[in-house]
Amino acid sequence: MLSQRQLEIVKSTMPALAQHGEEITRVFYANMIGENPELKSQFNMDDQQNGEQPKRLAQSILAYVANLDKLQNLGPAVEKIAHRHVQTHVTPDQYPLVGRYLLQAMKIVLADAITPEVLEAWTAAYQQLAEVMIAREKEIYGEEPALV
Ligand code: HEM
Repeated sequence: MLSQRQLEIVKSTMPALAQHGEEITRVFYANMIGENPELKSQFNMDDQQNGEQPKRLAQSILAYVANLDKLQNLGPAVEKIAHRHVQTHVTPDQYPLVGRYLLQAMKIVLADAITPEVLEAWTAAYQQLAEVMIAREKEIYGEEPALV
C-alpha cells in the first residue's frame, strides 16, 4: 500500500504525465527494446512504429494514477491488460525490468520534476500496480494453461 504522502506525490505528477505521457512511453519502449532486443518477439512491432502501443500504455498509466485511491475502478482495465499479457507470455520476473525502464524514461523526459522523493513514490506506485497485474495473470495462467 502507498502512504498518503506517496499517493499525493504521485497524483501531483498527473498534469506532467498528461502532457508528456506519450513521449515518456516512446522513450521507454525505444530504450527497453533497444537494449533488450529479445523482447521484440513479444511485442507487436507494427503497433510500436505507428505509436499505438505507447499511446495505450500512456493512457493506462494515467488511468491508474487517476484511480490510485480507488483501485477497484481499474478492474476492467486490469482484466483486459492481464489477458493480453498472458497471450504474449509476460512473466512476473519481467516486471522489474519494465519498471526500471519506465521510471528511467520519466526521469529523462520530466528531468528535474523527478526529484528523489517523486522517484521513490513512483517506484512504490509501480510496484503496487505490478502486484495487482501479476496476481491476476497468475490466476489466468492457472485457468488457461493451454495458452502457454
Ligand atoms: C504495471 C505494468 C504494466 C502496465 C500498466 C502495462 C500495460 C499494458 C497495456 C495498456 C497494454 C495494451 C493492452 C491492449 O489494449 O491490448 C499492454 C500490452 C502488453 N504488455 Fe504490458 N503493461 C505492464 C507490464 C508489462 C510487462 C512487465 C511486460 C513484459 C515484457 C509487458 C508486455 C506487454 C506486451 C508484450 C503487450 C502486448 C503488446 C502487443 O500487443 O504488441 N507489459 N500492457
